[in-house]
Amino acid sequence: MSSIVVATPATAGLGELFRTHKLSKKTVVLFDANTKRLFGEDILQTLHNEGFRTLELVVPARETSKSLTTANRLYGSMIEADVDRSWNLMAVGGGVVGDLGGYIAASYYRGIPVIQFPTTLLAMTDSSIGGKVAINHPLGKNLIGFFHLPELILIDPSRLKTLPLREIYSGMAEVVKYGFIADAAFLALLEEHFTDIVALQEPWLSEAVRKSAGTKEDVVRRDFREMNGLRATLNFGHTFAHGLEKSAEYRHIGHGEAVTIGMACALILSRDLGFLNGQECQRGLNLINRFRFPKGLLKKRFLAIDGPTLLHNMLSDKKKLDRKLRFVLLKQLGEAFLHEKDVDDTQVLDAIEKAKEFFSLKRPD
Ligand SMILES: NC(=O)c1ccc[n+]([C@@H]2O[C@H](COP(=O)([O-])OP(=O)(O)OC[C@H]3O[C@@H](n4cnc5c(N)ncnc54)[C@H](O)[C@@H]3O)[C@@H](O)[C@H]2O)c1
Ligand SMILES: [Zn+2]
Repeated sequence: MSSIVVATPATAGLGELFRTHKLSKKTVVLFDANTKRLFGEDILQTLHNEGFRTLELVVPARETSKSLTTANRLYGSMIEADVDRSWNLMAVGGGVVGDLGGYIAASYYRGIPVIQFPTTLLAMTDSSIGGKVAINHPLGKNLIGFFHLPELILIDPSRLKTLPLREIYSGMAEVVKYGFIADAAFLALLEEHFTDIVALQEPWLSEAVRKSAGTKEDVVRRDFREMNGLRATLNFGHTFAHGLEKSAEYRHIGHGEAVTIGMACALILSRDLGFLNGQECQRGLNLINRFRFPKGLLKKRFLAIDGPTLLHNMLSDKKKLDRKLRFVLLKQLGEAFLHEKDVDDTQVLDAIEKAKEFFSLKRPD
């Protein structure tokens, strides 16, 4: 599996680290326009000080960069610069750069090593770990890709200082998810230090990042190709979230925001199907209640959507399967499982209505 380094700066002693991982000092460094502006000079300088040869590539900072067109342009720059199998690629940025960089590394010259250097909270705790790399197709997101594990994941939580608060909350959704699905002690830490972590206070921030990354790595190690249902538990809250994202045309709600709402629905469904006791469900909802959304988002993107439409959008995501929804549910806080049995639409709709009640009670906006 990959080695994960969580440190400030994560680039200290990089030459030695590359040597121990049998990585050459010939590195394609991929940024998006933002990470280039914020970290480009510092990272390239560090690499040059350590004797690296580099090729720098920059893509626009947007989801549409995860395309074959962009990949093709980058392949061209790499071929022109005589990049061959002896090189590796370092992706510096959020999930967009990580997925695109991983995709290029997996395919270029039949595969070169990739080093992930995540700079968003979501990338540090989720997308950079686990080796799923992909680009989008006009007919759907993340449809074209590989399993290509990174050799190294370099995480420097201090790089989050420039990240907008909305993106911090988005990443926090996945962080809290790890507590819900796999680690009750971590969940207690999150309850105690939620505000500290969102404010990027140490040592809580690094602890949260380390634990989250470790949990994802552990789950992936035990179920790399999604064979035994364990990796599927990483999708806690995501069945609902995908419906919300689709309802908002994948534009008007962030993934993490949808997951936050989706986890509230999944907590309620876990309780109402008799798996999670009421007290634990409430404790989970109290933690969800700490999240903040942009003004009007909850109202427009959740409360105003009628249940059957949301359910339809949750289903349409799965049209290629058997038109059955699968839910990840909790047995208790810190223990998730993939519920293989069908759940009645009425029960799903009921959970959605109760989640709406929860959010409108607590959130006047
Ligand atoms: N491969 C996986 O397992 C996996 C898992 C989850 C999500 N994803 C993918 O990840 C992508 C979303 O990733 P994301 O949320 O990181 O979005 P992103 O990569 O678009 O980054 C969000 C924004 O933050 C900017 N940014 C990055 N680091 C910054 C910093 N330190 N300071 C200021 N701004 C910074 C980026 O330029 C961008 O504008 C999606 O394409 C999704 O499909 C992949
Ligand atoms: Zn997610």
